[in-house]
Amino acid sequence: FPVDRIRNFCIIAHIDHGKSTLADRLLEMTGAIAKTEKNKQVLDKLQVERERGITVKAQTASLFYNHEGQRYLLNLIDTPGHVDFSYEVSRSISACQGVLLIVDANQGIQAQTVANFYLAFEAQLTIIPVINKIDLKNADPERVESQIEKVFDIPREECIRISAKLGTNVDKVLQAVVNRIPPPIASTEDPFKALVFDSNFDHYRGVVANIAVFGGWVKKGDKIVSAHLGKAYEVNELGLLRPDEHPTQKLFAGQVGYIIAGMKDVKEAQIGDTLYLQEQPVEALPGFKPAKAMVFAGMYPMDQSEYTGLRSAIERLTLNDSSVAVQRDSSLALGAGWRLGFLGLLHMEVFNQRLEQEYNASVIVTAPTVPYKAVLSSAKLIKNRRAVQKNMVYIDDQRVMMKYLFPLNEIVVDFYDLLKSLSSGYASFDYENAGYQAADLIKMDILLNGRPVEELTTVVHRERAYSTGKAMCERLKDSIPRQMFEIAIQAAIGSKVIARETRTEKMFLQNYGGDITRKMKLLKKQAEGKKKMRRIGNVEVPKDAFISVLKRK
Ligand code: GTP
Repeated sequence: FPVDRIRNFCIIAHIDHGKSTLADRLLEMTGAIAKTEKNKQVLDKLQVERERGITVKAQTASLFYNHEGQRYLLNLIDTPGHVDFSYEVSRSISACQGVLLIVDANQGIQAQTVANFYLAFEAQLTIIPVINKIDLKNADPERVESQIEKVFDIPREECIRISAKLGTNVDKVLQAVVNRIPPPIASTEDPFKALVFDSNFDHYRGVVANIAVFGGWVKKGDKIVSAHLGKAYEVNELGLLRPDEHPTQKLFAGQVGYIIAGMKDVKEAQIGDTLYLQEQPVEALPGFKPAKAMVFAGMYPMDQSEYTGLRSAIERLTLNDSSVAVQRDSSLALGAGWRLGFLGLLHMEVFNQRLEQEYNASVIVTAPTVPYKAVLSSAKLIKNRRAVQKNMVYIDDQRVMMKYLFPLNEIVVDFYDLLKSLSSGYASFDYENAGYQAADLIKMDILLNGRPVEELTTVVHRERAYSTGKAMCERLKDSIPRQMFEIAIQAAIGSKVIARETRTEKMFLQNYGGDITRKMKLLKKQAEGKKKMRRIGNVEVPKDAFISVLKRK
């Protein structure tokens, strides 16, 4: 396929502004999929994606489009919208020359619109602003165009007003992709060179790597090398994604597709790696920064007998999500398990849900924590800083964009929910890592009947220790059922107890009647309830207590 008739682009947007819906329309209009109700959100393949209505993994589709008598190959790379998955956005962007920046005609520019815009802008891609949902009663495309002009410095004339739902003006989007986005700079004359921008693990065929070919071409049977590990492989299969795998004989410069070459582990096809022909070595492409874990949590099997099963489930799932950091860990109370690092809280919840849905695993997840660097000296003289305002920009007379420096610990658990409810859903939020800062922090333990629960040990700011400790004890008291004895719930700093709650014991009715089936039912219910419990010392703790303790009411 001639390179000058190829366009590589992705769709970026704030969550729910309509990426997947527009992708569906583009697929339909180019004949890649049939027009049926069933085909909603074709690119969202994971069960959790369909259930939550969010995109987690970027997907790719090659579309053929006829324009002014010419046939074009359009490679669409879908991207997720949530902050936790912005590393997926940057890897998609590196395979593209242009982006469709979607903005909801009613909501206007939101936090991830800005964050995603900068990812595309810094990568010097052509940006096509698309104002979606113009069919809505409250749509105000005029206002959104003014915002785009003011915040991104893009002339309003460049905006395309569409309704992805109804299909209005979607043909204009396809024309703009062809007319405004440049073709990739790639020549079939050069030696073969491809960027790995995504990879999946398939149980039967091994690693399926998604690649963007930057030079030359490759065919079945070729011997290729991954620049990162220097290992050689033979190409077993390759082809286009339309969006299902569509095997072809060759992949050429400028094309985007998949390749299977007997790799057994996604670590062999690292995102950002370069592939080349064994007989024609080339210099590796720049690649990108690996995703960095920001939220850590312990994960343990409900019962130690399930350890091996859970281990293989975690191994298989991380094969498909190399952004999860895994380390073995063990705990006195919970036994052998792992300490996992995630990109954010949603990422953690999604991982957990996938473990349960796709691998039928039952796990205990401990309270999430964020990374700290401890300096063992007296430098904590430094003044405590909670949130520091960095700047403020008025997007228009109704919206303001504010930048703050926050301790990550303050935003990791429930900040997003709180912000949404305080602003009645109007505020949106995005974050990036601003590095480590000194603060006056201390370690706080939670004790159950005098026994520390290490999963609940937290790092708190000294001035907040008392109130946090008190709140955690209260919440723990509410989430532990009454038992046959009194339970003391304490928060302590070193040996000093700073807060205490007491769970009084359960009252019993002796000899309560002779209905045996009712009694059996009761016992069965209790036994089922017990399964969801963990024993710490002599105290039974429900598994979800470990996380609910941290959530503010
Ligand atoms: P993430 O992948 O989770 O980031 O979401 P998304 O940006 O892909 O949004 P999605 O396509 O799932 O659309 C979000 C909601 O907006 C869905 O309920 C869509 O039906 C609706 N929607 C999308 N486009 C339009 C439109 O043009 N008009 C109207 N009225 N609703 C739309």
